[in-house]
Amino acid sequence: MAKIKTIGLLTSGGDAPGMNAAIRAVTRSAIFSGFKVKGIYRGYRGLITDEIVEFKTQNVSNIVQHGGTILKTARCKEFTTKEGRQQAYDVMRKHDIDALVVIGGDGSLCGAREFASEFDVPVVGVPGTIDNDLYGTDHTIGYDTALNTIMWCVDRIRDTANSHERLFFIEVMGHNAGFLALNGAIASGAEAAIIPEISTEVDQLAELIQNGFRKSKNSSIVLVAESPITGGAMGLAERVRNEYPQYDVRVTILGHLQRGGSPTAQDRILASRMGAAAVDALLEGQRNVMIGDNYDEIVYVPITKAIHKNKTIDRDLVETLRRLSI
Ligand code: F6P
Repeated sequence: MAKIKTIGLLTSGGDAPGMNAAIRAVTRSAIFSGFKVKGIYRGYRGLITDEIVEFKTQNVSNIVQHGGTILKTARCKEFTTKEGRQQAYDVMRKHDIDALVVIGGDGSLCGAREFASEFDVPVVGVPGTIDNDLYGTDHTIGYDTALNTIMWCVDRIRDTANSHERLFFIEVMGHNAGFLALNGAIASGAEAAIIPEISTEVDQLAELIQNGFRKSKNSSIVLVAESPITGGAMGLAERVRNEYPQYDVRVTILGHLQRGGSPTAQDRILASRMGAAAVDALLEGQRNVMIGDNYDEIVYVPITKAIHKNKTIDRDLVETLRRLSI
């Protein structure tokens, strides 16, 4: 394997709080270990259109506390084509970039895997997404901050829900996964979470109503994972209006609010450890792996596994929420 001298670094897909901490960690660890670092702006698009700048330690000063990504990010259609990836490879060669560190979610890692296998480029993935939906890592960067944001929002909605004695459906992000909805519900004391992982097993709404969830309470909060499988908060509210008109129902969609904000300590620490580990992985000759955390230990997960295997929801958490919402 040719010796790696220069590492290219990009963020891709939906941004997540803590990405800047990861950029800082990759840059500084790489420079510490004698590598050159090139920052690639706007994800894979910037790799195609040549938006690349050498990063020194000062380029990443004063960013650990900020949400978003100083490298900017994009969802790049061109990179899904062979021609696009060829252009990206040519630009990479022009800048003497020998390896890539990609910070992003499943779509970004899919692109990374494709690119790595076509051009034999060493790639290391760092899981950056609020969705927490990557197999092989207990947590992804940004998930904890998003959970805290959800909790903060639900606490406020609870006040008005209580005053008006209403049923609120609060829709949260998560792509096709229910981690944010389930843990957000537990953290905020919500009555239920409607998540895609169990939508095919039970009619969660009917179960909720049949269990008489509002008997002893004057308001109810239900977190709904965005997904065509759950029907989303709007879809569920419509069902309630038609099937259970006795409830005064309202909907709040938290949306991109969940992606912003200063990262929590937990996300900053995770991002710092994972960013440093990405450089260690390259030093150890690892390629096409994603950095994961497993019971607080850093692990290397083959990217193929991280994107193709399903990360399952913890059934104990589903049960805990059920028990606590009586
Ligand atoms: O993957 C992160 C995420 O925030 C998902 O939870 C959400 O479905 C999606 O990105 C939204 O993407 P966009 O910002 O492109 O609308």
